[in-house]
Amino acid sequence: MAALGARGRAAAVLLRRGPGPGPRPGPRRYRHKEKWAATAPRIPPTRLALHHLDAGCGARLRELWPSVRAGLLCEQKYGALLNNFAPSDRAARELELLNAADFVAEAAGKAQPVGRGDSASLEESGEGRVMARAVTSPPLRTSFSPNIKCYTFPRGDITRFRPARPDALGLLDYYLMDAASLLPVLALNVQPDDFVLDLCAAPGGKTLALLQTGVCGHLTANDVSVSRTRRLHQMLHSYVPKEIRETVSVTSCDGRDWGQLEGGTFHKVLVDVPCTTDRHSVTEEDNNIFHKRRTKERQMLPMLQLQLLMAGILATKPGGEVVYSTCSLSLLQNECVIERAAEIAETQFNIGIHVEDLSHFRTLFQDTFSFFSDCRMGELVLPHLTANFGPTYFCKLRRMRKG
Ligand SMILES: C[S@@+](CC[C@H](N)C(=O)[O-])C[C@H]1O[C@@H](n2cnc3c(N)ncnc32)[C@H](O)[C@@H]1O
Repeated sequence: MAALGARGRAAAVLLRRGPGPGPRPGPRRYRHKEKWAATAPRIPPTRLALHHLDAGCGARLRELWPSVRAGLLCEQKYGALLNNFAPSDRAARELELLNAADFVAEAAGKAQPVGRGDSASLEESGEGRVMARAVTSPPLRTSFSPNIKCYTFPRGDITRFRPARPDALGLLDYYLMDAASLLPVLALNVQPDDFVLDLCAAPGGKTLALLQTGVCGHLTANDVSVSRTRRLHQMLHSYVPKEIRETVSVTSCDGRDWGQLEGGTFHKVLVDVPCTTDRHSVTEEDNNIFHKRRTKERQMLPMLQLQLLMAGILATKPGGEVVYSTCSLSLLQNECVIERAAEIAETQFNIGIHVEDLSHFRTLFQDTFSFFSDCRMGELVLPHLTANFGPTYFCKLRRMRKG
């Protein structure tokens, strides 16, 4: 009714009273007006999402934005994460014949292996207390999780993968996912016997990638949504043999409470938060966070993300590492959450946080992905028509040991 204005409201009152005697044209015009007001077209969520991105990313990405925008609106590319638990190499051979290649192996080929303790030199933040960031590019290092194999088609090749097939034991041969979603898992760099927490795990693409490393000492996969946790269970049934499945703890807790439940327990924590899922938001009307009725939920996302990241930090052992990731281009959901979490960790919990330098990922994976070169911290994969993955933002934090 507010949208009607004074004249419209008057018209509505008149209409409720019904037409009186006299000439017909007046009431007919009023009836038309009320109908117009009641059914005025709403902006579809996809258009609203695009408006938001045009305003936010247009300013930030500048001349890159038209290309990123076109990528977002076009068909996304996938990668095929090979299932090491279905050990036939038939799928790999088949993919290679189609000219797909394992982008992780290719990157590892470019890198020099380094020891566990080797880390980039770090500099203090403006205030000189909260965080640090590498100032020099580290040497190319294979500081990423082992045994993960993911096939992609070359730049410009838009061949689609066939659906996954079961092996003799019924396990599917590969898992199709946005290949850029693997980068946060690779950045977590799981080491033998690490206790790993995947705080927002469903439907489980990254959980499966964590399991592919074959080195997790223990893996806990959590997601607050019971229905999505069911999908996580289904994924485990389709890809992971029973004896391994049974070693994974699947829980349905609110991740924000995790720090209080099991504080300081894990060597590695993945915090892959709910976000505006930009690609989905500009292309799909269903389940779109830009729907008018979800405005509040959308506005509260950075707060939820911050709380989840804080819980992840608190769940990590001193010396342990957290990778935060989103599939959004938004500064507010990416770097701003990291900055605020580091600040809160320091001021409220007396926990020092180092933001790790991941710039070598840009060098190692540049043949496969298009990276944004101007992130304040962390790395961002930008959609591009020749390599249409992402967006994926990921940033690695180390919880400092007490001095
Ligand atoms: C981006 S999705 C995770 C995708 C998943 N990591 C993967 O690779 O398949 C974010 C997930 O966070 C979950 N989530 C939202 N709020 C949460 C909370 N408070 N605690 C834990 N999980 C939450 C959602 O149910 C959703 O499944």
